Amino acid sequence: MNMEFSEPLRPLYHFSVPKGWLNDPNGMVYYDGEYHLFYQYYPHDTVWGPMHWGHAVSTDMVNWTHLPIALYPDDLGYIFSGGAVIDWHNTAGFGAEALVVFYTYHDPKTENQSQALAYSLDNGRSWTKYEGNPVIPTPRNLKNFRDPKVLWYEDENGGGHWVMIVAAGDAVSFYTSHDLINWQISSQFGFDQGATTGVWETPDMFKLAVQNSQETRWILTVGLGEGAPAGGSGMQYFVGTFDGAAFLNENPKEKVLWADYGADFYAAQSWSDTKDTRQLWLAWMNDWRYALKIPTTTWRGSMTLPREARLTQHAAGIRMVQSPIKELEQLRLEGNSWQDVTILANSEFVPDVSGRLLEIVANLEVNVDASEFGVRVYSNPEEFTTVGIQPDEQIIYVDRTHAGISTFHESFCEAHRVEHVDFGKKVQLHLFVDSSSIELFVDDGVITFSERIFPNSSDFHLRFFAVGADIAIKDLDIFLLDGANFLLSS
Ligand code: FRU
Repeated sequence: MNMEFSEPLRPLYHFSVPKGWLNDPNGMVYYDGEYHLFYQYYPHDTVWGPMHWGHAVSTDMVNWTHLPIALYPDDLGYIFSGGAVIDWHNTAGFGAEALVVFYTYHDPKTENQSQALAYSLDNGRSWTKYEGNPVIPTPRNLKNFRDPKVLWYEDENGGGHWVMIVAAGDAVSFYTSHDLINWQISSQFGFDQGATTGVWETPDMFKLAVQNSQETRWILTVGLGEGAPAGGSGMQYFVGTFDGAAFLNENPKEKVLWADYGADFYAAQSWSDTKDTRQLWLAWMNDWRYALKIPTTTWRGSMTLPREARLTQHAAGIRMVQSPIKELEQLRLEGNSWQDVTILANSEFVPDVSGRLLEIVANLEVNVDASEFGVRVYSNPEEFTTVGIQPDEQIIYVDRTHAGISTFHESFCEAHRVEHVDFGKKVQLHLFVDSSSIELFVDDGVITFSERIFPNSSDFHLRFFAVGADIAIKDLDIFLLDGANFLLSS
């Protein structure tokens, strides 16, 4: 059955729950042709509650089939966030190619948090919680101890071991294991590294090649509960090395690197075991400041688009850049192209295209005589979101102060900005517009913004603007997009 939900704010090509509450992506793993996406789920209300793991599968990360709830809370507590792996060599003894998920038990009475696992031998359709849970009990005096992410670390001799990263206060703890059940702590990282204005949550770690070089680096990503660039929760990352036991940050400890500059990119997790050289991840498209209040009706919460993360060398050092996955191109219905259009100073260029779902790729020439230029995404004649560039100060911003409904929380109605240190003579803006979100990838994803918007209608059209001087649009593509398929399993 195709999900034919008609609510005006329902995203049509972003993953959302049919009903109830969704937060973090969990247990992301690829197996036997399917990408699994589990998620923090409360089916009985549209606000956070006793956590379950919801479940969906996809063959392309764009079209999804919703499956029954995978994990229910039990006597040990709620089922908080975590990751998943395939136990290819049956190290745990659960059976051939078991899909093993790791999660945190949150005991609602004591608020103790411990790490546990469950496994499936039928492609995630049925689950057995390990009888010896929890596999890592709550360390003494530690309240925030959660969100295990497990990966296989291969050493130089072709051997290897399992590694678990767990958020522990304002740090992460690394554990190692040979059987997924018995874990020894091997190191900790954090405390005074990067941003520590909020609790650390939902860590992840992956190894990436640095493009156009022989080098590789490990990237450690960490959710920060509050104090990210847009004010609320956000994802920071560290670039460094990992020797199977400890992570070493190659930047000074004060250096903070952010994965996204919008308000709505949190708890991001990567897919494990993909048969792909691409590093693929997505995030919960929300901000804890107002997540419980966003103005949807029978459901709350959606994910960002899946992205590919890469590493590139910049003057300032190695940085993560992100692109929308190429599988999204299947949604393109009708393309409209323009070449060499001039936006005259203090006026607008208005392409004759409108729709509820849009993808825009605009290559603009930077004219430093302009005080500002960019594009406004109008959802109706009164409501718009501005993507702006101030070349003088090398600022890129997304302003949603006129984007529509915003009274549900005082921190929603804001503009978010960042200095674009790699500013060149041209700038590329790649935008995805869905019923209630805008995602922006600047210059091949060296900067990204993920933003929810809640327009009162969503027949979007674009107005490119230039202030103070002419701006040349070198080329512009606007695609009307189709919705993705979201099926409910029967
Ligand atoms: C992050 C988070 C996690 C926790 C989960 C609970 O958004 O706070 O740390 O496991 O949500 O739903």
